[in-house]
Amino acid sequence: MKLNIAVLPGDGIGPEVTNQSIKVLKAIALMFDHKFTFKTADVGAVAIDRHNNPLPDATLDLCKSCDAILFGSIGHPKYDNDPTAKVRPEQGLLKLRKELGLFANIRPVKAYDTLLDKSPLKQNIIQGTDISIYRELTGGIYFGEKHLSEDGNVASDLCEYSREEIERITHLAFKAAKTRSRKVTLVDKANVLESSRLWRKVVGEVAEQYKDVTLDFLFVDNAAMQMILNPKQFDVILTENMFGDIISDEASVIGGSIGLLASASVGNKYAMFEPIHGSFPQATGKGIANPIASILSATMLLEHFGLFEEAELIKEAVDKSLKLNISTPDINSKYDNVTTDKVGDFIEDFILNPNDTNMN
Ligand code: IPM
Ligand code: MN
Repeated sequence: MKLNIAVLPGDGIGPEVTNQSIKVLKAIALMFDHKFTFKTADVGAVAIDRHNNPLPDATLDLCKSCDAILFGSIGHPKYDNDPTAKVRPEQGLLKLRKELGLFANIRPVKAYDTLLDKSPLKQNIIQGTDISIYRELTGGIYFGEKHLSEDGNVASDLCEYSREEIERITHLAFKAAKTRSRKVTLVDKANVLESSRLWRKVVGEVAEQYKDVTLDFLFVDNAAMQMILNPKQFDVILTENMFGDIISDEASVIGGSIGLLASASVGNKYAMFEPIHGSFPQATGKGIANPIASILSATMLLEHFGLFEEAELIKEAVDKSLKLNISTPDINSKYDNVTTDKVGDFIEDFILNPNDTNMN
């Protein structure tokens, strides 16, 4: 298969983890006779520095001309600590999601048997957890009208959803549930928010078309508690933009590190694959960033194009690296000399040497 992939490494650890994914995808292309081409463009703080724009037109054009986008991470402390900054790196990512219509962000969360002791949660609570979070990505409070009063003392962000925005991601969540344990949990705050009450109504109506899938409702405060009390109760979690952002970071504690969580952002036309972690500025250039979230995002890219065998091989390599403790310090207390590159190299070697008994 021929795939043109736009690579947007972004800020902080973005470039170093994305490099590992490219390496792994190149190995896959070689072994399975595919032709993957990679074209890189600027986004985020780096794009503000170079072009005075967190999402230059050239970057957006490249994304629109490619089959898929591999995204690194975004954000820089100089903006985090300056609430008056008018141009912010995050605007680049948000505009990209909006312009490409990437309305559904899919975030798989699972507990690896080999990493059960890495989570601060008890093993019997997390073992067997397998959740797929469907986070709405182009609506809600992230994109509603913003206002700051002239004296700078009153601010507001509007949380708005339309029936259509809710329906389209709900269908994706129910379709996914049909291939899994057939349960969807809608996370909302319908006891307080009008927008959440619309979610309940619309999701309830869509659910009528999926009689073999159970629908549950949970208020977000309770869901936050249930996520660490009994995560195994969840199969597909469906939720709006900001609740999904928060609950997925919380869920990453189950896997043992946020450095393991991948995601796919999809719409009707484009698809982007991004780790859920941020730019981790303190780690930049130190070789300690975990590349697994990015590499697993690359497997989601392959699955998106039906390349399941290829994706499976990468997952096998990842499992093996975790088993052998060829891991970065976030999940490895023993060998802190295992760098980002070394994890990528191991996974690349595993793919290139399928018959190597030392590996398999
Ligand atoms: C994420 C990130 C982004 C978000 C930021 C960087 C804008 O936290 O992808 O989860 O809030 O969506
Ligand atoms: Mn987030």
